[in-house]
Amino acid sequence: MRFTDKVVVITGGAQGIGRACAERFLSEGAKVVIGDVDASKLARTAEEIGTAATVLPVTTDVARKADVDALIAAAVEQFGRVDVMINNAGVCPVADFLDFTEEQYDQTLAVNLKGAFLGTQAAARAMIAGGRGGVIINMSSINSGLANPSVAPYAISKGGMNQVTSTAAVALAPHGIRVCGVGPGTIATDIIKGAFTERAGMEAILARTPMGRLGEPEEIAGVVAFLASPDASYITGETIYPDGGRRILNYTVPVRE
Ligand SMILES: NC(=O)c1ccc[n+]([C@@H]2O[C@H](COP(=O)([O-])OP(=O)(O)OC[C@H]3O[C@@H](n4cnc5c(N)ncnc54)[C@H](O)[C@@H]3O)[C@@H](O)[C@H]2O)c1
Repeated sequence: MRFTDKVVVITGGAQGIGRACAERFLSEGAKVVIGDVDASKLARTAEEIGTAATVLPVTTDVARKADVDALIAAAVEQFGRVDVMINNAGVCPVADFLDFTEEQYDQTLAVNLKGAFLGTQAAARAMIAGGRGGVIINMSSINSGLANPSVAPYAISKGGMNQVTSTAAVALAPHGIRVCGVGPGTIATDIIKGAFTERAGMEAILARTPMGRLGEPEEIAGVVAFLASPDASYITGETIYPDGGRRILNYTVPVRE
């Protein structure tokens, strides 16, 4: 129960990794505010994972500053403070490099990169006003540092996100706020369905994953909880990669059936 009475805000909390984070923090005593652009799924998730006393759903488009500010304001109004902010909402269009449209590029950068920047600013302002410091965690990706042209706007957004993490870490350290990133490998959620529905696509991933399997959302939530906890009290500005060994692999490995 490392987070008893702590207030944790999670964007993209309606499903996938964001939902797994919400459930993890709830299980350790936190109050959780989940923001998501999908209002109906958000409401359903809030009902499934907690009660009105522990979970507040706030419909939020993280690409809109007014929405992000309103999300943080709702957390402060309902639960009195913000201790942990997780900028997790993300989108990942897939196409051949030359076929990406301007609209896809703008939308991906707006959600993944601007959303993290706005979320970091808004949460930090509330944390500074509260005078108790805090932790901000940005959900990056191994694609922040790998060159995969079929997700180019996504990879560009996550590369930029790592700079949100490091620049904010320096800016906010004097306020007792740590800023960290988590860069998952391929995790079994909806976001990868468009990318890897074909067997060949999945084999390409597994051949590059020494542990020979996808990750589960709960395995990412565990890393997020560690980084948000006092056990990580001297870590800031770093992005940690739970990826089954994928980033460090030079060659490929046999794919198990
Ligand atoms: N699944 C993976 O393999 C993987 C790997 C690396 C990084 N990530 C990152 O993890 C994060 C969560 O992804 P996931 O795998 O759980 O995917 P997901 O598609 O299951 O969940 C993403 C959530 O973000 C929400 N969202 C999308 N646009 C939004 C917006 N404008 N405002 C608010 N919410 C919005 C969606 O409604 C959805 O609930 C993303 O940032 C993603 O880039 C995922």
